[in-house]
Amino acid sequence: MIDVQELTKQYAGRTAVNNISFKVEPGEIVGFLGPNGAGKSTTMRILSGYMPATSGRVQVAGFDVFQQSIQVRQSVGYMPEMAPLYTDMKVNEYLRFRAELKGLSGHAMRRRVGEVMELTGVTDMRKRLIGNLSKGYRQRVALADALVHKPKLLILDEPTNGLDPVQIRHVRDLLRNLKSKHTVLLSTHILHEVEQTCDRVIMIHQGRLRANNTPQNLTRQLRSTTLLHLEIDGTGEVAEKLTAITGVRKTTEEKILVHPWRKFTLRVEPEHDVRDAVMELAMQQKWRIREMHRQLPTLEDVFVELSMNAGIPSDIPTHVL
Ligand SMILES: Nc1ncnc2c1ncn2[C@@H]1O[C@H](COP(=O)(O)OP(=O)(O)OP(=O)(O)O)[C@@H](O)[C@H]1O
Ligand SMILES: [Mg+2]
Repeated sequence: MIDVQELTKQYAGRTAVNNISFKVEPGEIVGFLGPNGAGKSTTMRILSGYMPATSGRVQVAGFDVFQQSIQVRQSVGYMPEMAPLYTDMKVNEYLRFRAELKGLSGHAMRRRVGEVMELTGVTDMRKRLIGNLSKGYRQRVALADALVHKPKLLILDEPTNGLDPVQIRHVRDLLRNLKSKHTVLLSTHILHEVEQTCDRVIMIHQGRLRANNTPQNLTRQLRSTTLLHLEIDGTGEVAEKLTAITGVRKTTEEKILVHPWRKFTLRVEPEHDVRDAVMELAMQQKWRIREMHRQLPTLEDVFVELSMNAGIPSDIPTHVL
């Protein structure tokens, strides 16, 4: 659905996107991540046919974005970072106007506008001037606009920016429901959302591709420790005994809980799961356990690691798999 080869974009001699290549397959939901200024919006504008590249080749839905930009725009629903909404139009007027621009007309057009207003939760606002809407509602109108012509591919630049938590969930469910019919490339800074929604993550930093993998693989391959939180009723040198388990790097005892409960945090090698060994040890020692909770590294940890320029963990592939 998307095929980007050696894409580079320079603004007045400044390189915003530096020789990136990646693919997105039909039906995938791909998170496009990177710190501020990484080049996400620049790449998305090029993919949607709104801005030329400096060099490289980009195909979207089988069309070349440079040679066949009309076909590309018909296949793509693009929601820009700052949506250029007409502030002096009412919501339904605006969406009808946009739908007509995208080739819909008559009854089918009005029905589709009604549908996307429902999907994005702006039906109650349909008679309001866009200029008087809150930021979150403007975002929803921009999303409705991106969806109105039922594009094969949705390119959404921070679609949940400015939305309240309930609405963020609503957009997440919406994207999941679209999955069967649409391919989605979305940028966001809400990594928790990406973990829950996206099949794959493409991460860029300073215009370069830094990671391209499933959220699960990225977090699994991160060279950091897993934490295991325990609450134990046991006396004596509990921490020392726990640290002796193979795979445990370090055990720290946290603040004292209500007697007799003691709280420990184990730092565990990423490839080890020591929970069974902890249970066996507890039985031997006649400790009681009332809590055992494993905390895996999150996508946020991966993001921070890659963005800190600390170098890529060597087992994270940096190119298309
Ligand atoms: N129209 C422009 N003219 C000159 N430089 C630009 C222009 N647009 C973006 N840039 C620069 O290109 C780089 C990439 O910007 P871009 O907006 O693509 O980043 P981004 O990843 O979308 O960041 P954010 O998370 O803040 O939205 C930045 O250094 C930015 O200053
Ligand atoms: Mg941006």
